[in-house]
Amino acid sequence: MRLAPQPSAQPLRLVVLVLFATGAITSPVLSTGCPDRCVCDDQLVVQCAGQHLTAFPVNLPLATRQLIISNNRIVELPPLALNYLSDLVYLDCSNNSLTEVSESTFGNLRKLAYLDLSFNTLTRIEDRTFGPLASLVMLRMTDNPGLSEIHSDAFAETAALQVLDVSRNNLTVLNVTSLIALPALRSLGLSGNPWRCECDNEDLCLWVHLEGFKFQDEGQTVCGSPADAQGRRLGEVGVQLRALCHQTLGSWDYLFFVAIGFVIFAAGTVSAWVMGVVMVLYERYIKKKDGQPDEEEGPGDKGRSSRARGDHGNGRSHTV
Ligand SMILES: *[C@@H]1O[C@H](CO)[C@@H](O)[C@H](O)[C@H]1NC(C)=O
Ligand SMILES: *[C@@H]1O[C@H](CO)[C@@H](O)[C@H](O)[C@H]1NC(C)=O
Ligand SMILES: *[C@@H]1O[C@H](CO)[C@@H](O)[C@H](O)[C@H]1NC(C)=O
Repeated sequence: MRLAPQPSAQPLRLVVLVLFATGAITSPVLSTGCPDRCVCDDQLVVQCAGQHLTAFPVNLPLATRQLIISNNRIVELPPLALNYLSDLVYLDCSNNSLTEVSESTFGNLRKLAYLDLSFNTLTRIEDRTFGPLASLVMLRMTDNPGLSEIHSDAFAETAALQVLDVSRNNLTVLNVTSLIALPALRSLGLSGNPWRCECDNEDLCLWVHLEGFKFQDEGQTVCGSPADAQGRRLGEVGVQLRALCHQTLGSWDYLFFVAIGFVIFAAGTVSAWVMGVVMVLYERYIKKKDGQPDEEEGPGDKGRSSRARGDHGNGRSHTV
């Protein structure tokens, strides 16, 4: 069989052999060299931090597993160059001038487990930006002062994600539907954002309330707006929002209770009235029945007492 599946491997190996032969390199790195101003070691780590780079380094070893380009002024991650590095596991791009990342940026980095995009100038994260990163375990994306939008599906496919930190950005809302569904997520940093504590963010606030233990700096995760909620913790506001945001649904319930209350009140009033009438009529009936003499009170009374006296007298006369 030919070596068709890896056409580039053969010349590369030749180059390595040649370099070995000439003593140019001493490590088994499958490499054509090391970028300027970077240090490449035999653990496939390429270290380019703080070198005043303004562009992504060229001439990276293809087998690079760790790439550290932090503390530079790199403005762009070129998809083509980056996606050659299909063995990349660790990528630190923190403290650069990146303004944009997209789905194609990380399109081929299926082994990437750690990604750091902190201290850049990102403004929004699009749909599926991290979609190809099936092995991503930790994502740091803090301190991007203009980052105000993360698409609701940005994390829909990062099933291995355990730690996500989006602290100190400019986020006001975050749709957590896909985050809640991530099976391995155990730590989330949200502090230092001007969160909007209103109904459109209710799910986030409730999530913080229910699973506060998952959130780093939960005490510092506070509302930025509206004014009356400023500085209050998201978890604390969560319960109130749940009650508040469903009032439109609940108003029918209130209406129902009011109607039921009215019916009971009306029924009570009517039955009290009926009872009253019945009582009055019954009383009259009773009075009429054994109170017939009552109506001619004077003579009746006299008659009764005389009768009683007479009876008494009679009895006495009888016994005597
Ligand atoms: C960012 O990098 C610059 C050098 O490019 C350095 O002076 C600065 O301290 C770094 N900032 C952080 C927060 O690491
Ligand atoms: C943060 O977002 C608000 C609007 O939500 C905007 O007015 C403000 O300029 C943003 N801040 C930065 C640093 O971009
Ligand atoms: C959040 O995103 C999901 C899926 O993307 C969507 O169905 C849902 O309506 C969104 N929720 C809010 C409050 O926008």
